[in-house]
Amino acid sequence: MKKKIIAYNRVEKPVLDELKEKYDVRFFNSPEPINDPAFLEQLKEAEGIIGLELPVNKELLDHAPNLKIVSNVSVGYNNLDLDELKKRNIMATNTPDVLNDTVADTVFGILLAGARRITELDRFVKNGKWQQEAVDPEYFGVDVHHKKIGIIGLGSIGWAIANRAHFGFHMDVLYHTRSRKIAAEETFAATYCALPKLLEESDFVCMMTPLTKETEGMIGLEEFKRMKDTAIFINASRGKTVVEKELIQALQKGEIAGAALDVFENEPIETDSPLLQMENVVTTPHIGSSTHETELKMSKLAAANLEAGLNGKKPQNLIWE
Ligand code: DGY
Repeated sequence: MKKKIIAYNRVEKPVLDELKEKYDVRFFNSPEPINDPAFLEQLKEAEGIIGLELPVNKELLDHAPNLKIVSNVSVGYNNLDLDELKKRNIMATNTPDVLNDTVADTVFGILLAGARRITELDRFVKNGKWQQEAVDPEYFGVDVHHKKIGIIGLGSIGWAIANRAHFGFHMDVLYHTRSRKIAAEETFAATYCALPKLLEESDFVCMMTPLTKETEGMIGLEEFKRMKDTAIFINASRGKTVVEKELIQALQKGEIAGAALDVFENEPIETDSPLLQMENVVTTPHIGSSTHETELKMSKLAAANLEAGLNGKKPQNLIWE
């Protein structure tokens, strides 16, 4: 009999098809699968889960007595209750590194869109305003090259951002992270800073920390007040690292000039969020790693991790040893 696995939310089709040849795969993508009786029924026999952002907590695990491995198709793993998984001896894996350059490209994409007002000007052209009025200097943006970028969280994605900033845009790189990275200082002439200094000095503040108990709500009104009123805040980590209502207040009060956001406290963002009405806010729907090439690489890596775990081997990307 084929082993049962659950695929959730996002696994690229060629990878899913390959898994289906070897396993009994059940695919779900309801927003709250835990309330779906069909999902709970399949969970009883499932030995593996592969997917994106399935909340794997005590409640779910209580329905999954045969589970051996949870394989995230993401580098982030804040959806997993690691203590519960460890307690039950269930492996957990993620997909690091294959997405570094893609997420860094996204960061620069939204950063540039914010600085050069590209999304606003796109609307200006498409809404036929260009035919009615000349481009007012009000629409001129600010330079990115030769400015200062502050990166909060210099992991491997932060590194790819620093690489673009230093070599591509000739920016000064400041960084704040748990432990100093001498290699970044040597490679990008990056400066290690306490958070307040980074916030005070950066033209672009880029949030890249994983979401943990320590980083939840790490950036709020106090931090926004420290930033330059010309600063643009970029978040491509997780929405909950920022107190979103305080970000909104900071933007309303002009504490910062704008924001470029790929992630939000709740996803999808509520349709009545003030962020969606602000011209100086660029939004994308959590697509940091979502190119065809990279999504496929992530799905392949997650499938390899899953299969290793199912077959008694050590997966390449175990979250803990
Ligand atoms: C990741 O890999 O963590 C991306 O943000 C997708 O969730």
